Amino acid sequence: MPQPHYTQIIRELPSSVPFVGPEAQERARGGPFRARIGANESVFGPSPRTVEAIRAAAPDVWKYGDPDNYDLRQAIADFHGVGRDNVVIIEGIDGGLGLANRLVVEPGVNVITSDGAYPTFNFHVAACGGTLTKVPYRDDRQDIGGVLDHARNNNARVAYLTNPDNPMGGWWPGKDIENLISALPDDTLLLVDEAYIDTAPAEANFPIDASNPQVLRFRTFSKAYGMAGARIGYCIGEAGVITNFDKIRNHYGISRLSQIAAQAALEDQDYLRATVERISAACRRIADIGRANGLEPLPTATNFVALDCGRDGAYAKAIMEGLLARDIFVRMPGVAPLNRCIRISAGTDQDLDLLEAALPEVMRAVSA
Ligand SMILES: Cc1ncc(COP(=O)(O)O)c(C=O)c1O
Repeated sequence: MPQPHYTQIIRELPSSVPFVGPEAQERARGGPFRARIGANESVFGPSPRTVEAIRAAAPDVWKYGDPDNYDLRQAIADFHGVGRDNVVIIEGIDGGLGLANRLVVEPGVNVITSDGAYPTFNFHVAACGGTLTKVPYRDDRQDIGGVLDHARNNNARVAYLTNPDNPMGGWWPGKDIENLISALPDDTLLLVDEAYIDTAPAEANFPIDASNPQVLRFRTFSKAYGMAGARIGYCIGEAGVITNFDKIRNHYGISRLSQIAAQAALEDQDYLRATVERISAACRRIADIGRANGLEPLPTATNFVALDCGRDGAYAKAIMEGLLARDIFVRMPGVAPLNRCIRISAGTDQDLDLLEAALPEVMRAVSA
């Protein structure tokens, strides 16, 4: 049978996807989960004002969205005190990471990440044919000194950091990241993925310097804003770098409803603050439930808690599978030694009641 003539990159890539979604798991199990606390979404949802804005705009969905994302970019620029030209709207951070890699990564280019960090980044590097080096975590955090050393020694064109971090939930003070930035080799572009910055302590943040062409900051409406299904986020950087996104981005890729929803969400900071409180209360309860069952919670700046199960990956996996079997969707880190943990996202009271009831049964089963 005739076949398309695939590019060398496609010919060499393994068939893989970075995630198996909860929907695929539900199809395989033959039924829905009762608690969806595995994908770091916000069960608390978007603000009522955002929902109302989507509802009001729904009849106009026959129109394409503004390909310039003009109003939303302006609103984000005003919010952060940067220029509109410093902002590009992206199809979630995932989409933005793909574009950023395409700007600078091609076969033969070295890229640095941390071993066990957010895997979608690796997926995009592979799609560009880049060569990825993974620096091990140190004390359950990304080793930012190690990332810098590797960037220097390997002539890396891209280095990727998440702050706060997924999957362990920790964070670096923003001033440490600023120090790393000032020591970056001239050829290295630093991608700072701040998906969880809205739930982080203020010290994790640092001022946005939109004049620095070596740094891109990625933010999203998927987490604390409760809009993961809307697939919208943004990237802030130096105007010349941001302009280059226009060469490759999907100009009609942001839905009109998402543009409107994101602007309404940004305007409702009271709701965001209240949601962050709810997330933090839910994380405290997850930590308590973990402790009551002999699992040690790691400090978190995110909307999830990594619970250290205290043994190896097989043991943590057995606990995760016990929860899945009891209809509670959770996940775990993919590489050692991080995979001694399971990762549980902030849930509603009802979700966490289910967790609280199921975990002792699971612990009894795994220790039997
Ligand atoms: C570190 C990190 N970056 C990015 C994302 C995805 O963000 P978005 O929904 O904006 O694509 C996630 C989601 O889990 C994440 O943990």
